[in-house]
Amino acid sequence: MSRGETWAIVVAAGSGARLGADRPKAFVRFGERTLLAASLETLEDHDGIDGMVVVVPEGWEERTSLLVEDLCASKVAAAVAGGETRPESVAAGLAELPEATELVLGHDAARPLVDAALVDRVLAALRDGAEAVVPALDIVDTVKRVDGDGAVVETLVRAELRAVQTPQGFRRELLDRAYAGDLRDATDCASLAERAGARVLVVAGDPRNLKVTTSDDLQRAEALYRDG
Ligand code: CTP
Ligand code: MG
Repeated sequence: MSRGETWAIVVAAGSGARLGADRPKAFVRFGERTLLAASLETLEDHDGIDGMVVVVPEGWEERTSLLVEDLCASKVAAAVAGGETRPESVAAGLAELPEATELVLGHDAARPLVDAALVDRVLAALRDGAEAVVPALDIVDTVKRVDGDGAVVETLVRAELRAVQTPQGFRRELLDRAYAGDLRDATDCASLAERAGARVLVVAGDPRNLKVTTSDDLQRAEALYRDG
């Protein structure tokens, strides 16, 4: 069976309101570079990835191309402007994928500590036939659903819950179908794949692969990065 290409869409078009920096979150300093650069380096170095599309805030495309040049990230084929919401940004990235793309990884620039072993697990599951794959961790906190007044509606069964990370992997046709539908209320790619009827497989996530949302997260991620 001939295999098509594997591409990554790195979404970096958010403003980072909760981080509150003077620039979009992806361009905030992380170690000696930026959050975005950290993910791009890891994905660039992974043999299983043929190409990448980076989605950035409108007006940041040119700076991104310079950053990509500096990193010698030759797999990055395009840096395009994203949308108001994450799904709109992913859709902008999807539109740039070449015809030959068979498998797609969707990755948040807000997760700079993504590593090759995690990418391997996601790609291996896709190559074993899964149509959609998410890396996830068990939950340690008890999770409750609350109403608008802050009162608890119900307590969810913790053993059934997972905290989901990126990169998430998909067969390209599925992702195209998922993103042709309603894009509202989707905080990750897999939720749209689920709505499109896909079976989404869970593989082991990485506790180091945390998402930088607040400045505390940034400090924790930098400490993890420094300590290797
Ligand atoms: N993202 C995006 N386009 C948007 C919103 C988010 O590409 N319109 C990306 C972010 O750049 C990030 C990922 O989706 O890499 C996850 O989003 P989140 O962590 O919420 O980042 P921000 O939306 O930038 O942060 P905040 O919600 O605090 O503003
Ligand atoms: Mg956000």
